[in-house]
Amino acid sequence: MKSSELRQSFLSYFESKQHQIVESSSLIPGNDPTLLFTNAGMVQFKDVFLGADPRSYTRATSSQRCVRAGGKHNDLENVGYTARHHTFFEMLGNFSFGDYFKKEAIHYAWEFLTVVLGLPKEKLLVTVYADDDEAFSIWQHDIGLPAEKIIRIGDNKGARYASDNFWQMGDTGPCGPCTEVFYDHGEHIWGGPPGSPEEDGDRFIEIWNVVFMQFNRSADGSMTNLPKPSVDTGMGLERIAAILQGVHSNYEIDLFQNLIVASAKAVGTEDLSSKSLQVIADHIRSCSFMIVDGVVPANEGRGYVLRRIIRRAIRHGNKLGQKGVFFHKLVEALDIEMGAAYPELTKLKERVASILLKEEEQFAKTLDQGMKILEEAIANLAGAKVIPGETVFKLYDTYGFPADLTQDVARESGLDIDEAGFKKAMEEQRARARSASNFTMDMSGSINLDTVTEFTGYDSFSGQCEVEMLLVDGVAVEAIEAGQAAVVVLKSTPFYGESGGQVGDQGWLRGNGAFKVLNTTKQAKAHLHQGELLEGRLSVGDKVTGEVDRSLRMATTLNHSATHLMHEALRRVLGDHVTQKGSLVDAERLRFDFSHFEGVTATEIEQIEDMVNEQIRLNRAVETDIMDVESAKAKGAMALFGEKYDSEVRVLTMGADYSIELCGGTHVKRTGDIGFFKIIVESGIAAGVRRIEALTGKAAIDATRQTESRLVSVANLVKGNKETALDKVVALNDHARALQKELDVLKGKMAALAGADLASQAVDITGGKLLVAQVEVNDPKELRDLLDELKSKLESAVVVLAAVNGDKVSLIAGVTKELTKQVKAGDLIKVIAPLVDGKGGGRPDMAQAGGTNPDGLPAALALVPGWVAERV
Ligand code: ALA
Repeated sequence: MKSSELRQSFLSYFESKQHQIVESSSLIPGNDPTLLFTNAGMVQFKDVFLGADPRSYTRATSSQRCVRAGGKHNDLENVGYTARHHTFFEMLGNFSFGDYFKKEAIHYAWEFLTVVLGLPKEKLLVTVYADDDEAFSIWQHDIGLPAEKIIRIGDNKGARYASDNFWQMGDTGPCGPCTEVFYDHGEHIWGGPPGSPEEDGDRFIEIWNVVFMQFNRSADGSMTNLPKPSVDTGMGLERIAAILQGVHSNYEIDLFQNLIVASAKAVGTEDLSSKSLQVIADHIRSCSFMIVDGVVPANEGRGYVLRRIIRRAIRHGNKLGQKGVFFHKLVEALDIEMGAAYPELTKLKERVASILLKEEEQFAKTLDQGMKILEEAIANLAGAKVIPGETVFKLYDTYGFPADLTQDVARESGLDIDEAGFKKAMEEQRARARSASNFTMDMSGSINLDTVTEFTGYDSFSGQCEVEMLLVDGVAVEAIEAGQAAVVVLKSTPFYGESGGQVGDQGWLRGNGAFKVLNTTKQAKAHLHQGELLEGRLSVGDKVTGEVDRSLRMATTLNHSATHLMHEALRRVLGDHVTQKGSLVDAERLRFDFSHFEGVTATEIEQIEDMVNEQIRLNRAVETDIMDVESAKAKGAMALFGEKYDSEVRVLTMGADYSIELCGGTHVKRTGDIGFFKIIVESGIAAGVRRIEALTGKAAIDATRQTESRLVSVANLVKGNKETALDKVVALNDHARALQKELDVLKGKMAALAGADLASQAVDITGGKLLVAQVEVNDPKELRDLLDELKSKLESAVVVLAAVNGDKVSLIAGVTKELTKQVKAGDLIKVIAPLVDGKGGGRPDMAQAGGTNPDGLPAALALVPGWVAERV
């Protein structure tokens, strides 16, 4: 069965069991800062498990693209060394959100494996969490698996719940005990069953993990029950495909074979069995999909993981003898394999290839040098088995070798790296670089995930509110006194909580006390009013009047609406490849980051401004509708790729033929309210990402006026007016250039005069003249010009000139052709330069030196006549 058929058969099986088929989400987890990459099928359902994101279905199934590199689940180092690890893979999963639990989940898994796929039962064995008698009994009595094929795995990793059979998505989040199904690839392969000392071998391979989601783990390690027991399962598409295709390694399945052949061709090798080809074939998948999902190579965060993986791939190509660029060429082959299932890849393949190529070119420059340093370090180990942390750090810092790349090379020589030493060196560097530390207070420690604040501020700036909760330093309190900083949570609020790029509102909460709101943020669905109680007392249950600072909010609103108009204008002027990469909207300005590969030209900026201002003049009505995601997409709403939306979304329309976007922000009633739109800065912030900053309303008018007033100042300076200023400045500029020319001519004449004067100071030596002089010049070039002039004037001569500028000495010696047989300028300079603490040299006819000791100059020059006399 081909991989693509397998994917379909899984989804269809669960659809027949009333599961909703849900598309794979982006590799960038929406709204989840705790996670670097989507690493399992359940990631897009995290909040559904937590009860914070109700859906219209309670059963779902998906084939999710996943990356396990960096973060909690990290397989990067294993890729290429085992038959079954990948940085990128597809996870097939079925999910129950408080619907079915252990019994059905186990039945479905067994039926799909043994009936739909027809796997032989005797090849399968399972593990359960040590205390999970219920799961044990289902396997034994309902499924009929012999007890010796059901292995209990306890907390084998040292702490409570630290177990191969207790799955958690990260340090926090949904988790629970699991049962795993293993496939026995046969005696001819080394390895033992799970729980045995040989379990790391490749014989018994885990194919399906069925997690009984029961708890939510908080940052402090405490576990709370999920609203309802749920199910999350994951089966690696590549592993199960290997079994069905009768091969042992994932890299032998259809999908990988073609990629490996393409990699061999790009690298220029014929040995298809090379592990390096597997590494490359694996890495082109993760790298391409990361770029498709908006990651670009960088020195931190996701971008750094991408960079590490690209560099590791390049290094493996290099190892196979490919010294040129090759990696980007594989995007085409990948598209042939996976484009049908992931049309977004086909759409963006040129862009993916060009980003990879750039990164290849950049790394190529340092790869060779870095490898030499590393090989030397390995040679110098003299039998030791560990590469010192400082070497690993130097390679990282100077040659861009990520530590795992160094480790990879080390591993090939049977060595290890001193990871602790590397981290220490890195930390030291960080401490040096840290100019100021940023503290973010965790103010939301005690907020319950199901706290919901009703937002009443779309249409009003004030409202009657009731205090639901008060937090001081993250701890809930009953009341606060004047002078205390706190976070106030209200049942309903007109204050917008920072989200979707729009800053939070400021203002006042007034009742028994006066609380100044400095910022409003959001945690799940609660609005957190952060600030200080300036007078009185505020208690939970108090009624207060919320008053939003109107002028800040209104200015922010104009900027937000203008952001939508500009986003559409960017796509129309620059092309559909423009996608939002970041946005910040506050009262002063709007800032918008977007993908685009070159600077936006002045003409394009004008076109964008014109288009936005035209929409403003058309004074279109701005409409908001609440609808489900599917209807919104059908309506053509631009959704942010990688964002996670509730099943009900807010759709914002500014002219049905112009801009339709999903947005929870505050907006103007009609586009005319924006008044005027002006771009002030366009810049690049990362490879392939541009940033535009712009102003609206009064701020835009003020900025334009400032520019004009600068023009008036210039006009006054050149004694003109706004109309004539440009011509006057051009004329001034021409005049300055003419003066400079005249000055150069005069300087030349002066130098000639000085030269003639100097030439008259030359003394006779055998066969010509000798001139030794200290002169005043501005730069070394003038010194050389003067020397040339004297040489030609004196015809046959030895000339030595010196100049002092501050504590710097310049020396120059020139010898005309006929005399260079006896007197060599280079030798002469070498003799006298040390007397001014200098070094130098040059040709027989011309030599130069610089020194730092002007006091030695008289002695240096005094040496010349005797030295020359000895030679002519
Ligand atoms: N979320 C579970 C896993 O990734 C199914 O193994």
